[in-house]
Amino acid sequence: MEKPNKLCVAISGANGFVGKNLRRLLHKKGIDLVSITRRNLHNYKFETKILSPNLSKNIPISKLNKCHAFIHLIGTGKQNTTTDYEYVNVGLTKNAVAICKKAKIKKFIFISGLGVSKNTTSAYFISKYKAEQLIINSKLNYTILRASYIIGKNDPLSISLTRQIKHGTIIIPGSGTYHLQPISVNDVAEVIYRALISKKFLNKVIDLVGPQTVTFEKYVKIFKNKKSAKIKKIKLENAYYDALHNLKSVFGIEDLNILVGDFIGNHEKLKKLSKMKFQTYLEVLQARGLS
Ligand SMILES: NC(=O)c1ccc[n+]([C@@H]2O[C@H](COP(=O)([O-])OP(=O)(O)OC[C@H]3O[C@@H](n4cnc5c(N)ncnc54)[C@H](OP(=O)(O)O)[C@@H]3O)[C@@H](O)[C@H]2O)c1
Repeated sequence: MEKPNKLCVAISGANGFVGKNLRRLLHKKGIDLVSITRRNLHNYKFETKILSPNLSKNIPISKLNKCHAFIHLIGTGKQNTTTDYEYVNVGLTKNAVAICKKAKIKKFIFISGLGVSKNTTSAYFISKYKAEQLIINSKLNYTILRASYIIGKNDPLSISLTRQIKHGTIIIPGSGTYHLQPISVNDVAEVIYRALISKKFLNKVIDLVGPQTVTFEKYVKIFKNKKSAKIKKIKLENAYYDALHNLKSVFGIEDLNILVGDFIGNHEKLKKLSKMKFQTYLEVLQARGLS
């Protein structure tokens, strides 16, 4: 029989990379899930599914009334003429906040981006900043997590590097000496779980970053390991040219901005709040057989 005080959370963007990993962990912890997604997904026991393309007014609020928190994972780092940052990162966050108000869900957890600040000039970071402000001003309890590269099975960076290895050449834009601070997707899921159950995360903006920084060049070399592929440095000018002219370029404009931006976060604060032991990027790559 179901326990009366069983925790229930709603997750939007449930079928994405973080969503899939988070649902697996929360399901293991015995939490009821209401997963909101555009496409059909494989349900867990104690998981309710809501199909919605845009978190519109038609969302069945009755399915969300028992939720204690809303974890908003919808987001994009690429825009084009049919879908843009303002619509996805700002507009759908606005809709998510409105749903919480209607369903009387009190807590909101959001993944923003490492590098977001009031002074940013990047279109992607501006949209994430606006989303953060919507949440902070919503009067909901919130936790905002500003993530660096999240890595694990089928993370976007590994998919891109694996594809490039298959084609024989991995590209490094510019010098490759800018840094990443990768964090394991399993640790990300655990942090979100702790943010759900602990008051320590209440109304905070926290960097979601791993324990080590690494240059992009070093990360690529470790990832490649003994696989046969060339590593080719190209001029930043050429990488931006490709990003501006080709929808399928290896690096999009914002990928390049994030890399060159060389953003480093505060891992110690995350460690202190969560009291977790985090995996290093090397441990994640080794566990996945990727290095
Ligand atoms: N992965 C990273 O390294 C990283 C780093 C920094 C920040 N983040 C942020 O963390 C969150 C989760 O990231 P992720 O890696 O899981 O991303 P992801 O795999 O791309 O998943 C994002 C999900 O958002 C939903 N979505 C995307 N575009 C949409 C649109 N136009 N309309 C409606 N829904 C849309 C989709 O959910 P459904 O498929 O369920 O419909 C998609 O699967 C995002 O907000 C992302 O910006 C991620």
